[in-house]
Amino acid sequence: MTAGPRRRVGVLVSGRGSNMAALIEAAADSSFPAEIALVLSNRPGAGALDRAAAAGLPTAVVDHKAYPDRESFDRAVHAALVAANVKLVCLAGFMRLLTPWFVETWRDRLINIHPALLPAYKGLHTHERALADGVKLHGCTVHVVRAEMDVGPIIAQAAVPVVEGDDPDSLAARVLKAEHALYPAALALFASGRAVVDGERVRISGEPAAPPALVWPAA
Ligand code: GAR
Repeated sequence: MTAGPRRRVGVLVSGRGSNMAALIEAAADSSFPAEIALVLSNRPGAGALDRAAAAGLPTAVVDHKAYPDRESFDRAVHAALVAANVKLVCLAGFMRLLTPWFVETWRDRLINIHPALLPAYKGLHTHERALADGVKLHGCTVHVVRAEMDVGPIIAQAAVPVVEGDDPDSLAARVLKAEHALYPAALALFASGRAVVDGERVRISGEPAAPPALVWPAA
């Protein structure tokens, strides 16, 4: 997949870590253009830490409750990433707002997955809001992080249908499955250099032929 050295990735988590697990699984293939160098959680009890340790990966906890303000917490996270020689950071269900200092320090080297088709449904409760609006397609986005929440150059997106009888849980499960396919694919594009930030857009080289439109509901 890549000729160059694998990019050293730090994964920031707060919870169960299913997206982190998808990245770990993809990176287990030595041809994947990134390797997971560190999994770092702001919550000591995050399930993601056990999953990462079980995969034999280095883990760290930087407990936000131990810091007086956001920037001192962010500086501790930054120090742990630098100590692990991390070159690229993936947010994977990391539920802390990062300061402009951190975002600028990692500018164009910090990516996030969000459970909606941005720029629609920034913030929390995306599935509930999509259902309330009656949208027929929903999905997820991997994007480069900017200081404003859920804003930044889009690397890749996955769309899923919203079906009759969906509730937030069923829709979340469908989107989450798409997230697990999308995040490794987007990281591969970004880490290999095929996806490049150009201002506030991401340009993709060697883009495959576009598939037919996803029409939902189909007639
Ligand atoms: C995922 O659905 C992710 O997109 C979302 O949190 C979940 C984490 O699940 N992230 C956000 O809402 C960030 N704004 P996971 O811990 O199983 O990967």
